Amino acid sequence: MNKRVFLIVLDSVGIGELPDAHLWHDEGSNTLGAIRDHINFYCPVMTDMGLFNIEGVGGGVQSPSASFARLAEVSMGKDTTTGHWEIAGLISENPFPAYPDGFPAEVIDEFERRTGRKTLCNKPYSGTDVIRDYGEEHIKSGALIVYTSADSVFQIAAHESVVPVEELYRYCEIARELLQGKHAVGRVIARPFTGEYPFERTSNRHDYSLVPPKDTMLDLLSRAGYETISVGKIKDIFAGKSISESTHITSNNNGCEVTLDIMDRDFKGLCFVNLVDFDMVYGHRNDVPGYARAMTDFDKYLGKMIARLRDDDLLIITADHGCDPATPSTDHSREYVPMLLYGKHVRRGVDLKTRDSFSDISATILEYFGVDQGETSGHSFLAECLSDAAFLPSDAPSDEELVQIAADMRNKAYTPYSNYKVGAALLSKSGQVYTGCNIESATFTPTVCAERTAFFKAISEGEHEFAKIAIVGGRDGEISDFCAPCGVCRQVMAEFCDEDFIVILGRPGAHKEYRLSEVLPFIFTKKEL
Ligand code: THU
Repeated sequence: MNKRVFLIVLDSVGIGELPDAHLWHDEGSNTLGAIRDHINFYCPVMTDMGLFNIEGVGGGVQSPSASFARLAEVSMGKDTTTGHWEIAGLISENPFPAYPDGFPAEVIDEFERRTGRKTLCNKPYSGTDVIRDYGEEHIKSGALIVYTSADSVFQIAAHESVVPVEELYRYCEIARELLQGKHAVGRVIARPFTGEYPFERTSNRHDYSLVPPKDTMLDLLSRAGYETISVGKIKDIFAGKSISESTHITSNNNGCEVTLDIMDRDFKGLCFVNLVDFDMVYGHRNDVPGYARAMTDFDKYLGKMIARLRDDDLLIITADHGCDPATPSTDHSREYVPMLLYGKHVRRGVDLKTRDSFSDISATILEYFGVDQGETSGHSFLAECLSDAAFLPSDAPSDEELVQIAADMRNKAYTPYSNYKVGAALLSKSGQVYTGCNIESATFTPTVCAERTAFFKAISEGEHEFAKIAIVGGRDGEISDFCAPCGVCRQVMAEFCDEDFIVILGRPGAHKEYRLSEVLPFIFTKKEL
């Protein structure tokens, strides 16, 4: 069985302020709230999955198709790296350091000593202004232009004719080595430029992310032999650590196309996707109509992704922080994020309420792959969400085999009055099959359907836990495309099975699974009594 998990991070799609939002000056922020009523927002797929059924969101559908939760962030940060690391099971107790007054002497002195070059600037600066204001001095002296921003970055600008790009990269590596522990900035960035005053930046920018200081689910998965496929900036966020393969993307839509292609491939492991346009293009630019449109675009792709899911796939949709486009701030916001878990074996409509940490996603994925979570954080919600059919023994018959058994059982039907023959094959959770056929009577009323024959045989043998039933019917000599169970049999199913019990209808080679809740909605059960 090739288990696959598709984990898609909608960058910045938060769903409302966290209880500590005031500490981050983010009271009232609600990214989804800011876009959901815009005319450009039309997301029937996510709506049907239960996006609006999530605690605190409001406006959900009657029977959502996914399991869902609201996740809080424990880490002391609201940036992309911190959010993704927490999703992957690594909690950051301290925020990444920022340097509004420039880097301290201990950092600069050591950097100068190890590079053999002096430094200029050393304060927060715009990237284009910094080369205009310090470029000529840099060319004269050979000193490196070191600057930062409101983010946790150590940036080094140098003219390509003064410091060859390879040498600049080496200086960045030195900085990356130095900037650890309490000075562990999120990124060191090489910013080469060229030409004459006022100069121009080249495309040789290079980022050196901080390597996650402890294991994440990616490390555990790759050690256990699973693939860890990155789409978009995931590879950069984890500094390439334990990423088996990565694809650069140019937009959200391109990222979705790449993901769809990966869905068509055979692999065993995790495909971890980041869609950054929500944040970079719309959130930071306070573009409500654009953000709403981008959600609509994603939702269309999501419909395609769902259609490509295989039986043993899980699909998880989440986010890494907020970036409310309707507040005056253009910065990230400290928000809860959504979690939608979807798959053939995932129960519909399980409301996991509000959970403590994004890292519950990591714990859930690791449990799904049967990998010990080691030192990583998080509490798995897998058991609450997987339907019983997911736990069937590996030698249990397949749907096709079950349908074939049901078809064969028609030969045993006793139907001198209707001549309509029905066979049933009932699969217990332990993997045992109980068969049945319909048995008629000259006085009609005592007639028993195939399904009830199977159920009563099983129950009289002491069996009470059921996973699936296959039903095949048709007039003597022909099998109909579809034989629906009668109302009485549905009620018997409801007596002994839960809403996720699977009913397989059709014929050998052409059948479909339904959940009992679809076959018999608004069930009256013993719970009511
Ligand atoms: N029948 C079943 O056995 N199962 C069903 O789900 C539908 C109907 C049988 C009862 C009767 O013997 C014959 O089909 C015609 O109603």
